[in-house]
Amino acid sequence: MCGIVGYVGQQEAAPILLEGLKTLEYRGYDSAGVAVQRNGVIHMVKAQGMIRNLCEKTRDGADLHGTVGVGHTRWATHGAPNDTNAHPHLSNGEKFAIVQNGIFENYLELRELLTEKGYVFHSETDTEVVVNLLELYYNGDLKETVMKALARVQGSYAIAVMCADFPDRIFVARNGAPLILGIGAGENFCASDVTALVSHTKNVIYIDDAEFAEITARTITVYDSTGTPVQKPIARVTWDVEAAEKGGYDHFMLKEIMEQPRALKATIDPRVKDGHVFFEELKLTEEQLHGIHKIVITACGSAYYAGQAGRYVLEQLTRIPVETDLASEFRYRDPIVDEHTLMIIISQSGETADTIAAMKEAKAKGAHVLSIVNVVGSTISRLSDDVIYTWAGPEIAVATTKGYTTQVAVLYLFAVYLAEKLGRISGEEAGKLADDITLLPQQLQRAIDLNPKLEKLAEKYRDNPSLFFIGRNVDYAVCMEGSLKLKEISYLHSEAYAAGELKHGTIALIDEGRLVIALACYEPLFDKTMSNVKEVKARGARVLGVALEGNRAIYTEADDVIVIPRTNPLFNVPAEIVPLQLFAYYVAKANGCSIDKPKNLAKSVTVE
Ligand code: G6P
Repeated sequence: MCGIVGYVGQQEAAPILLEGLKTLEYRGYDSAGVAVQRNGVIHMVKAQGMIRNLCEKTRDGADLHGTVGVGHTRWATHGAPNDTNAHPHLSNGEKFAIVQNGIFENYLELRELLTEKGYVFHSETDTEVVVNLLELYYNGDLKETVMKALARVQGSYAIAVMCADFPDRIFVARNGAPLILGIGAGENFCASDVTALVSHTKNVIYIDDAEFAEITARTITVYDSTGTPVQKPIARVTWDVEAAEKGGYDHFMLKEIMEQPRALKATIDPRVKDGHVFFEELKLTEEQLHGIHKIVITACGSAYYAGQAGRYVLEQLTRIPVETDLASEFRYRDPIVDEHTLMIIISQSGETADTIAAMKEAKAKGAHVLSIVNVVGSTISRLSDDVIYTWAGPEIAVATTKGYTTQVAVLYLFAVYLAEKLGRISGEEAGKLADDITLLPQQLQRAIDLNPKLEKLAEKYRDNPSLFFIGRNVDYAVCMEGSLKLKEISYLHSEAYAAGELKHGTIALIDEGRLVIALACYEPLFDKTMSNVKEVKARGARVLGVALEGNRAIYTEADDVIVIPRTNPLFNVPAEIVPLQLFAYYVAKANGCSIDKPKNLAKSVTVE
């Protein structure tokens, strides 16, 4: 949802800003721009489309000179994606330049006020309003000016600001959108995400909401909203540069699919010791665990589907009722949660605006919030009572793969942990289950190896304008994620349906040649799912079946079959989703789609 970068140092800023923007392109990619300043003049270049257009326009930054600058890659909220609406924005007097990620909610009111004072607006953005507000308030004291403007704006944002009168510094601020400061030697940085910083430094500062900072080449001063300096700890980033590069794969998505065995292993192994699941990081006390009456899982997109998949195992092992809810719904339905509710928040990025709002709502009602997050130091990880990290490494492709499977793995581990703590399963059973979870990385690898023909199947079925995923029980949860993957990157319409529900209306859409992907890996209900397969076949559908290795019955019903390895039946999901991820990937590839950066999407959705 827009990426911002900033640089203050001794080197030419523009090439550094462009490199940083390339790593942030997953956040938005409809237009981009950079501004650098030299000798009291701000130079700015913007270009519609992907960052490569901006690189071409500036000869990879060589045309812009100055050692201080800010850059932006945009996911449009206010105004169409074009050169004018792209960031940075300059104030009327060209004294200030700003880049922003987020939304200034009261921009219309401010725009009116500034118009009355004679300011002219060239773009439709909320951001151009704020850069002029800075100019209006400017009294020669930059810190005071920034504070005054921040006190006047409302919304959820992160900004980086330059002023032509202060050629050696930038000011940044955050309130609800991510912003990280990078500490170099004689140079300092800021960015929306550590992936833009790791090639320069691993020493970072996470600033908090309502804080702002003044960055020069040699100093970083963080202030609270009253302008009082605050001491911030310096954190070490553990991700390396290679983790944020494609490493020989055509797309980040394929690389990340292939990385899943490693990501699962990194997530699972440190938590299983001597046949038991341990979470050394958890602060939840035994007393709190015994006081849990209900678990609510809230998230968005694939993280929500991970929650739906984990719910089956949590309920089965702990016998505690589990609700799942979309974060964007939960926050507005006056949910019934209290101090006996364990709220599980799932988010790869840890920055999704709706998820953060849902978490705050639950906390305010007294629930204990446990988050499952991939990005260390992200907003959700810092605001929750407890956090369990997925150790998937940076995920760059917009469509999540290893983020999702590691989230499911954490839910499995937590289900076993909680069930043992509550005495719902014996130590011996818990040990057996923990061992089975440690087998998931290799089983997931087999799910990859077993399906070399997926590229061919994708070629065969890529023309279907609309298709169905059906399944029962946890297979249904996997259907939802499989369908979302296909929609996100191939733009084919698909619906995920509980197999038994199809006949209540939707079967009217089944006609000759319609593709139905039938997931039948949950074997206790295999026969029932097969009955539904027969129903759609009788109406002319073609069926691509997904079943466990060794299941012969599926071949009698399905036109084509994908098999997945046998795992403990409770823990099928990571291996089961893999062929659907690959199917979506190859369909998108065959149809020439932009796989890592699908149209209209952004990886980190920091607006409501
Ligand atoms: C966006 C992405 C999805 C992701 C969702 C939740 O919509 O396109 O792939 O699942 O956000 O993101 P989170 O970072 O909270 O897991």
